Amino acid sequence: MLLAASTQRTIGLVILAIVFIGGLVYIYFNIRSARDELGSEIELAANRRQYMDDAELETKRLDLALGTSLVLLTITAVTLPLYWLGEPGRHEGRDVDTSRIFTNRGEEIYVEGAQCVACHGSEGSGGAVSTAITTEDGGFLAQVSWKAPALNTLLSRFTENEVIHTLNFGRNGVMPAWGGGGGGPLTDQQLDEIVYYIRSIQIDEDQINSEVDIGIRQGVETKLRAESDADWATELRAVNDAKDATAWDVTLASRATFGFDCTEQTTDSRCVADNDASQALLAAETVHADALESAVTSWLADVDAVRQSAWEAALAADSSLDNEGNEDAWRFAALELLSTAGAIDGQELYLEYGEILFTNTAAAGTYNCARCHTYGWSFDATGPYSLELQGTDEPILEKYTQGGGFFGPNLRGGTTLEQFESAASHVDFITKGQTMGATYGRGGSGGNGQMPGFGPNTDSSPVGPTIASGDEFSYPGLLTDEQIDAIVAFERNL
Ligand code: HEC
Ligand code: HEC
Repeated sequence: MLLAASTQRTIGLVILAIVFIGGLVYIYFNIRSARDELGSEIELAANRRQYMDDAELETKRLDLALGTSLVLLTITAVTLPLYWLGEPGRHEGRDVDTSRIFTNRGEEIYVEGAQCVACHGSEGSGGAVSTAITTEDGGFLAQVSWKAPALNTLLSRFTENEVIHTLNFGRNGVMPAWGGGGGGPLTDQQLDEIVYYIRSIQIDEDQINSEVDIGIRQGVETKLRAESDADWATELRAVNDAKDATAWDVTLASRATFGFDCTEQTTDSRCVADNDASQALLAAETVHADALESAVTSWLADVDAVRQSAWEAALAADSSLDNEGNEDAWRFAALELLSTAGAIDGQELYLEYGEILFTNTAAAGTYNCARCHTYGWSFDATGPYSLELQGTDEPILEKYTQGGGFFGPNLRGGTTLEQFESAASHVDFITKGQTMGATYGRGGSGGNGQMPGFGPNTDSSPVGPTIASGDEFSYPGLLTDEQIDAIVAFERNL
């Protein structure tokens, strides 16, 4: 843009100079070549009126005509190049204006018009929607809270045209269809405006990395809280169970007695017990915070050690991997080992790490895979919801099957081994995602680009009126190579 603008400016200046100098040269030669008058019409024809005589014509009249032409010519000669000089600036201003207007309108639709904000959070930070789960024949099953992924990293995983597709048609019934294509209320231009707004709220690489890391640590923490046999973990579980039990008593009481409320009934024994249990939990959390934190850190260090030993084993099997520029070959040889059951000591630990990434809870699941490949992950179908109060113990929501398929295909039972012959080609697919209309793997059909890419993304055909041909936008990746590897190993063992 800038280069084009300055070229145009330079050409404008050159033309201005040529016109100016040319004008001077013309005047000079015109004066030099002026000759004396030779003669004029002697007699006037009968049907003609006497015109001004020479004296008058060649003085006042001629001077006036010539003067006016000269002025007009000068104005034209000077203003045309000047106008042209200003043109690039006007273009830029126009682009900036349109872009700003589109972004503002997009924000208005996001916040007020379509209220995306109610589900996706302010500035696209992620949220949830309360929705009903039904049985196959449409009967009510349960009211759940369904996670709506953060949109402030959306353009790292989808191109803008893929986003437009989702906006047009919605997703899985929980995300409404917005565009005319899917019977929604918004026009194509409004969809573009939303995309402009989304463009303006994308977060940077450091923020992405730190969100992903926080999600990983939370995943490890949840796991250790539930499984670790260290003293701190056993105690936290006991205190937590006591808290759950008192909270349940309060819930039962409030359901049985309409209006039962511990903020008012402070002396009720159930409320007192509940309050004590909450205090005890808070105290135990504070006492064990450091132990928990360092347990998470050392668990992650153990995972690192497993990865390290895979790299060493790969090198031991093929010493040529240690060549410069061969980093990828080494990486994939190690990953092949990490993906093969029993090939490396500690592989199970590495796969658990892969599952934590596959289900990363950060930003309402934006960075994970489970929200599309595991039916039930998005509404925490982690165990039997019991209908205890109605006198039955029948589970109403089954625990989900990890990677069992939902919006994205089933990944279990070796399907990914069949689709991708090597861990390397599997990694490549996760890194780039599925491109609209393009096939993948051995038999992957060309869909609508709805499988996101988790590596860096360059969008070479963004939408909207301010986009010049050749404009492209680049966004950082959501996951590092190391993280994608762990997910791939996990999937190849599902
Ligand atoms: C009623 C709640 C709700 C509203 C309103 C809503 N969404 Fe969604 N949206 C969701 C849910 C839930 C999902 C995830 C669907 C799933 O899990 O399959 C989603 C998914 C998406 C996705 C796909 C993201 C991804 O990474 O897979 C995009 C893009 C999106 N919404 C944009 C929008 C925009 C823009 C608006 C406003 C015009 C909007 N949504 C309004 C609930 C909502
Ligand atoms: C927004 C929803 C969504 C998310 C999030 C998502 N996927 Fe997918 N995935 C899909 C869809 C849709 C397909 C099918 C693509 C097609 O057919 O064009 C797919 C296909 C795949 C396939 C190919 C399966 C086959 O047998 O053809 C793999 C492997 C896969 N995804 C892995 C992942 C991993 C790993 C992650 C997380 C890092 C992930 N997906 C996150 C929607 C998603």
